[in-house]
Amino acid sequence: MEMIQRPHINLEIDEIDQFKVKPNDDELRFGATFTDRMLLREYKNSEWQTGRIIKHQNFSLPPETIVFHYGQEIFEGQKAFTQESGKKVIFRLDENAKRFKKSAERMVMPTLEEGYFEESIRRLVEMEKDWIPKKRGTALYIRPCMIATEPALGVHASTEYYFFTILSPSGPYFAEGFAPTKIKVEDKYVRAVVGGTGAVKAGGNYAASLYAAKIAQEEGYSQVLWLDAHEHQYVEEVGAMNIAFVLDDVVYTAPLGGSILPGITRKSVLQLCDDLGIKTKEVALSIDTIIEGIKTGNLTEVFGIGTAASIAPVGVLGYHEENLVINDNKIGDVTQRLYDELLGIQYGSIEDRHGWILPIE
Ligand SMILES: Cc1ncc(COP(=O)(O)O)c(C=O)c1O
Repeated sequence: MEMIQRPHINLEIDEIDQFKVKPNDDELRFGATFTDRMLLREYKNSEWQTGRIIKHQNFSLPPETIVFHYGQEIFEGQKAFTQESGKKVIFRLDENAKRFKKSAERMVMPTLEEGYFEESIRRLVEMEKDWIPKKRGTALYIRPCMIATEPALGVHASTEYYFFTILSPSGPYFAEGFAPTKIKVEDKYVRAVVGGTGAVKAGGNYAASLYAAKIAQEEGYSQVLWLDAHEHQYVEEVGAMNIAFVLDDVVYTAPLGGSILPGITRKSVLQLCDDLGIKTKEVALSIDTIIEGIKTGNLTEVFGIGTAASIAPVGVLGYHEENLVINDNKIGDVTQRLYDELLGIQYGSIEDRHGWILPIE
């Protein structure tokens, strides 16, 4: 039974009379198909207008729109699951709401009223619940976003915005699924600096990361592992995930020092480690320590942590022309236990002991 009262928000709901054919769970890729409806709310004349649930559709914006020139844009990512009992749920949407607010503040964008983000998205997902796939490993990916829509050139914060959310039934983020990936340690380019925007989910962070990712992909790696911008020594995070290392039976992940994204999966995994009696340290390891650990055998596992990929084992780290193999390129015990625990809670085979699951009606 739901204990928390849902806030009342006004939403206009458009009738739609054409529905798309839903893809089979087995055919799903990541972020390639979108549901019938979306959420759209405009900000203009210094206030938020009434939000609308409308047919998934194109925007028509003049070419001088601010977001096209100065990249004033933020977004979020979360998932809805069909649990084993058939119940449909969303994972930790309140955490996305908090991070979205921080991103908006950092990018000089208006914030939403308390509770609006969660309730409007929950209503959209409820209307689209038949789109939530069922197979383990699939989910309905939720993509909230805000863009600057004032039509005017000149670098300044926009006076108009769209807050919108689209939904995408999705399969595995990496083509290989839950299997070890190959990641390149990037020692030339950097993702974010302390004092910059790395700790919020701004589109510009991702645009800035593409060049290094392209080179890494040409070299046969799936993503880049970023080092700190100052010394190029301390491991920060991966392209779309935080990262953890198992060294001497302790799970290490970089602290939230201002240049990495405070991942919701990272926060969940730290809690799950506590629950399972696995020691953790929020300490940034240097790449030298990591290489030495791999060579001595003390560093036994590496895994990425993020909403899109959930827990992604890393089998190979490429650094300075050398490919270092971790745990024989096999999924390690800690990685497997955390994966089973996290997915168990998401798919309902393990009790939601921390209140992470938001039911939808
Ligand atoms: C750069 C970056 N780091 C970490 C994460 C993981 O965050 P979360 O677990 O909230 O998805 C993401 C994904 O959103 C990301 O894009």
